Amino acid sequence: MIKLAPSILSADFARLLEDVKKVENAGCEYLHIDVMDGHFVPNITLGPAIVKSLRKDVNMVFDVHLMIENPDMYIKSFVDAGADIITVHQEACIHLHRTIQNIKSLGVKAAVALNPATSIETIKHVVDELDMVLVMTVNPGFGGQKFIQSMVYKIKELKKLIDEKGLNVDIQVDGGIKPDNVDKVVKAGANIIVAGSAIFNSENIPDTVKNFRENANV
Ligand code: DX5
Ligand code: ZN
Repeated sequence: MIKLAPSILSADFARLLEDVKKVENAGCEYLHIDVMDGHFVPNITLGPAIVKSLRKDVNMVFDVHLMIENPDMYIKSFVDAGADIITVHQEACIHLHRTIQNIKSLGVKAAVALNPATSIETIKHVVDELDMVLVMTVNPGFGGQKFIQSMVYKIKELKKLIDEKGLNVDIQVDGGIKPDNVDKVVKAGANIIVAGSAIFNSENIPDTVKNFRENANV
């Protein structure tokens, strides 16, 4: 069974709670919150204050994807604001093992994201410490980009590593995932599906959610 994580990057920020309620009511399990600092990626989004405001009215799992430099400086603020999962980028962490321990010491789940050009090899020695690995299927920074096909092989490679080690680590995919390509990533081993534009830009969110789940049932 997959879990769906709509990315609020494609929501209407002026009507954020209203939009988030739509995906919560449609049965989506996670809320994927894209935090960008204008340095690690060429875009700026939101900070802990918005997460805190949403937390009061939303019961979904808050999945905070930090696309920022020096994530260690901000992890606690996002946990205090209500994050359930913190994802840091491998490329942004000099002491990745330490950062993972920092996240876990705050009582939330820890995840590491890999840019398309970053190899699985870079997390081989810390994967047993993780709750989830995020395979970026676009270069981070913007919603609505095209899925990078070669990432299917990377997901398979990661799944193999996790299975060989006998671990229970979720595989999340993020970027360019639509109802018509979700089967490929699920077959490769992904079980948590981020979708921004495909969900928030759709005319009928409950129908789109249903399409995702039917097509992911492979
Ligand atoms: C990209 C973000 C994604 C993005 C996905 O940097 O991490 O979460 O919102 O958007 P879509 O699904 O439209 O590619
Ligand atoms: Zn994301």
